[in-house]
Amino acid sequence: TPRVFSGIQPSGGLTLGNYLGALKRFVDSQDRGIQSIYCMVDLHAITVWQDPEKLSRATRELCAGFIASGIDPARSILFNQSQVPEHAQMAWVFNCVARMGWMKRMTQFKDKAGKNAENASLGLFAYPALMAADILCYHATHVPVGEDQKQHLELTRDIATKFNHDYGVEFFPLTEPVIEGAATRVMSLRDGSKKMSKSDPSDMSRINMTDDADTIASKIRKARTDPDALPSEAKGLEDRPEARNLVNIYAALADMTVAQVLADVGGKQFSEFKPMLADLAVEKLSPISGEMARLMEQPDEIDAILRRGSDQARAIATPILEQTYDIMGIVR
Ligand code: TYM
Repeated sequence: TPRVFSGIQPSGGLTLGNYLGALKRFVDSQDRGIQSIYCMVDLHAITVWQDPEKLSRATRELCAGFIASGIDPARSILFNQSQVPEHAQMAWVFNCVARMGWMKRMTQFKDKAGKNAENASLGLFAYPALMAADILCYHATHVPVGEDQKQHLELTRDIATKFNHDYGVEFFPLTEPVIEGAATRVMSLRDGSKKMSKSDPSDMSRINMTDDADTIASKIRKARTDPDALPSEAKGLEDRPEARNLVNIYAALADMTVAQVLADVGGKQFSEFKPMLADLAVEKLSPISGEMARLMEQPDEIDAILRRGSDQARAIATPILEQTYDIMGIVR
């Protein structure tokens, strides 16, 4: 039976990239009735230093973002990683399975560690092994993510394959990445070659899920574009990264394909298209930010949801970790 797992880091706020690339698609899989497990990966967040107060707030705000986007804690399991110690335990096992050479090839490590990799935390280097643990602790079959996580999911398959091979078992499944839709890589509004990211120093580069209507509209109005009118077919967007990004965002927000959007807006100038996009974004995002603000007024409620979700998650992860230890000959 299919089982979906995915995670988001509580490091800073949620962006439109997280919403379209991940959250919105999590809701789709929940609503298709697939067992779905969603995790706030606080242990991943601390691979770079986090201010303690901000980490607590970001974790609760992320939980509020999940719920406001449509994740129902009565139907999906919603929890934070550190409350299920099996993740860290399984991660140690996978640290012993993964090879140094595999980890060194991870582009996200190279990007995040920057020029001074010697000064990066050991946790940042081991990050993808913890991610494999997140997924394989539940024997998840499908992992919806944005495109930037593709290499990590390939590593997860490599770890599962090597474990199965080393111990002569068929225990861990080969998880399928699910990277689908028009917004698997939402780009910066200022630079069509960079991904939209919560860590970009320019706030104008991204739409935050907590931005108010005026801010959203002004960021879209000021988004970088080229001077040409919109094409009427997708191939007309090929060498126009900024135009393509705005059309992709429109398509994802409207639940349309890029072809459908271009059939409607092909030939229009950005001066006409941008207000349409701003209206659509405000229509879709303001109910979510309103609900997030309302939920944030009840932090105890949020903590209770995370505690309940963690208990449910543990009920699945504990026997899988125990079987893993049994396979390895660990005496308990
Ligand atoms: P994180 O927290 O960086 O991002 C969470 C999710 O949002 C997606 N995303 C984007 N999608 C489209 N366009 C963008 N600009 C954009 N920015 C972010 C990410 O692809 C991701 O799906 N390592 C993961 C968290 C993680 C995880 C896991 C995911 C930990 N364990 C297990 C899946 C399964 C991360 O840093 O995501």
